Amino acid sequence: MIHAFADSLALARHLAARLRRPLRPVALSHFPDGESLVRVAHRRGADAVLVRSLHDPNAKLVEVILAADALRHAGARRLTLVAPYLPYMRQDRVFAAGEPVSQRIVGALLGGLFERVLTVEAHLHRVRRLSEVIPGAARSLPAAPALAAWVAAAAPGALLVGPDAESAPWVRAVARRAGVAWVVGEKERLGARRVRLTLPPLPACRRAVVIDDIASSGATLAAAARALRRAGVARIDVAVVHAIFAAGALRRIRAAGVRRIVSCDTIPHPTNAIPTAPLLAAALR
Ligand code: R5P
Repeated sequence: MIHAFADSLALARHLAARLRRPLRPVALSHFPDGESLVRVAHRRGADAVLVRSLHDPNAKLVEVILAADALRHAGARRLTLVAPYLPYMRQDRVFAAGEPVSQRIVGALLGGLFERVLTVEAHLHRVRRLSEVIPGAARSLPAAPALAAWVAAAAPGALLVGPDAESAPWVRAVARRAGVAWVVGEKERLGARRVRLTLPPLPACRRAVVIDDIASSGATLAAAARALRRAGVARIDVAVVHAIFAAGALRRIRAAGVRRIVSCDTIPHPTNAIPTAPLLAAALR
């Protein structure tokens, strides 16, 4: 059975339809002091898949912990968490004295509650596999097939641009699947909302799509778009996996000359245009 919080119901509906499994919304209410109360309706002995995208994560993480416990008490056998956006993966070491390794502590917590955790393009730098962070069967699914399908249908022949060296492996994977050329830039972060970005010499092209895993302040995408305009590219679109888009981000990106902004549906957002249910359903089967 599939269980989903209200904020992740759209994706859960697609998953339930693909997998032909019943979908049950998780009921959520709050006590006067702000505590959350969750209630699930589960069939004793059945496996349970809990769907929740964990952007804006703090209260949501607590509610996911409560839902895992509720499902166990309701007799769930194997518990799977589908968290298409998985937070706290970036703080993967003590960057400054006095800070935690959030990735480890959140990973251990989820691994202790669920037999399996699935996400899409977890932001992993110094570890290669999600199972190194979350004990048990944890997988970060590549978004490349979904992005490549969108590029092939909506921007055939466009040059794909990754903003930095880090993005090279998966921009290459998207480009190979979509059968288009690709380059990556060099990025230097100057502040929370300021980046400097340079591009290598570009092959002749009139259209480019900037691809990134996360759009937060939008500074990275805006800098890439400005660099492409300086290089004479006439039409620039962007496609990202996780649409965080903090306040002002969309305006910043559009002001840099970007025509179309699309995202995968790992975080519900008006830019969602690339479904991830096919990837997640294939992994759940
Ligand atoms: C960096 O490692 C990521 O891949 C993104 O480029 C970054 O998180 C984007 O952030 P912003 O939108 O604030 O530039």
